[in-house]
Amino acid sequence: MNNPNLKKPRLDLTYGNPSFLQEVWAYQKDYTIDFKIKSMPYKLGKTADPDLEKNIKEIHKKYKNCKITKKSQIVVTVGAVQALQAAMYAYRKIYGPRYLYSPRPYWGRFQEFAASQQMTMCDWLSTDSEPDKNLKAIAKNDHGKTVITLITTPNNPDGELYSKYKADIRDACYNWPQYTKKPVLLGDDVVIFSLSKLSGHSSTRLGWAVVRNPQIATLMQEYVELFSSGVSIESQTQAAMVLSNLLEGSPESFFKLGRVKLAARNLILKDLVKKHKLPIKILSKDGMFWYIECRPQVVFDLKVNCFAGSACGDLKKDRFRFNIGCSTEDFEDLCVRLENLSKIYND
Ligand SMILES: Cc1ncc(COP(=O)(O)O)c(C=O)c1O
Repeated sequence: MNNPNLKKPRLDLTYGNPSFLQEVWAYQKDYTIDFKIKSMPYKLGKTADPDLEKNIKEIHKKYKNCKITKKSQIVVTVGAVQALQAAMYAYRKIYGPRYLYSPRPYWGRFQEFAASQQMTMCDWLSTDSEPDKNLKAIAKNDHGKTVITLITTPNNPDGELYSKYKADIRDACYNWPQYTKKPVLLGDDVVIFSLSKLSGHSSTRLGWAVVRNPQIATLMQEYVELFSSGVSIESQTQAAMVLSNLLEGSPESFFKLGRVKLAARNLILKDLVKKHKLPIKILSKDGMFWYIECRPQVVFDLKVNCFAGSACGDLKKDRFRFNIGCSTEDFEDLCVRLENLSKIYND
């Protein structure tokens, strides 16, 4: 593609880096993120910084995206990735489940996490495969605990809400106003969040779980202690500060601007596909990922790196996920590439 408007020979929209939020921060004039490095000893056991814990509970109450009760425990983790693994570890230790059910398509790394806990991904709601039918029967006899359910709301990659289904573990990383019109008030046993997706601070590596069952919370804490000797206190201080800015500054404007940006990007792509009659079927309605179905040649012609739907457990062929929560520059680059496609496909 020799278009002078394209700065990069190849655009990379594979990973879910929410760079668009960096630009949103730039508009938040009354926010202050500053941070002093302190020297700290190991801090094992329950390691959540009290300010962080308080701010986490407050932000959930304010945005009504997770039920907080007197019994809710906050387990702070190294990114949501560790919260997911810690939750699987806890369930396996208590109930010994061998199967992990997640509706397809799901975030590609679930498979690796399940394997690390000697669990197999399964699809027990599907009617077309015998082993899956058997699993459903086993699950019924075993109060559902031979199979644990992990559901992402809104889902990565296709933005489905799955709000009617109960989950043992709910990945709610995208259940914030910038990604979905109306966040869902979740009350599952383990509800997982990520600072990366909330505020864009991916490199702080901070995640957390709101946990109802004290035994699960203790085991999740044990996992954090065993596998990372707690969570960096500097990261927790930074996260507490980010949340306090979001609670005290002009929080509506941060989420509103994020929402406007993502919603506009989804619309622009829809219009481009329609206007240029591109051979692309858009499967996602909203959110940070553009999930499409098209011939692989179309993606090849775009020269954009993305994730294959098959890596997300999608059984349908020729589906692809693009991160449209990228920087404005990369998003504009994607639009130019799509416009150029029309010359290949419509001439
Ligand atoms: C559904 C989902 N869960 C969890 C994560 C991991 O978040 P973190 O960066 O906090 O580890 C991601 C990141 O892409 C994700 O898409």
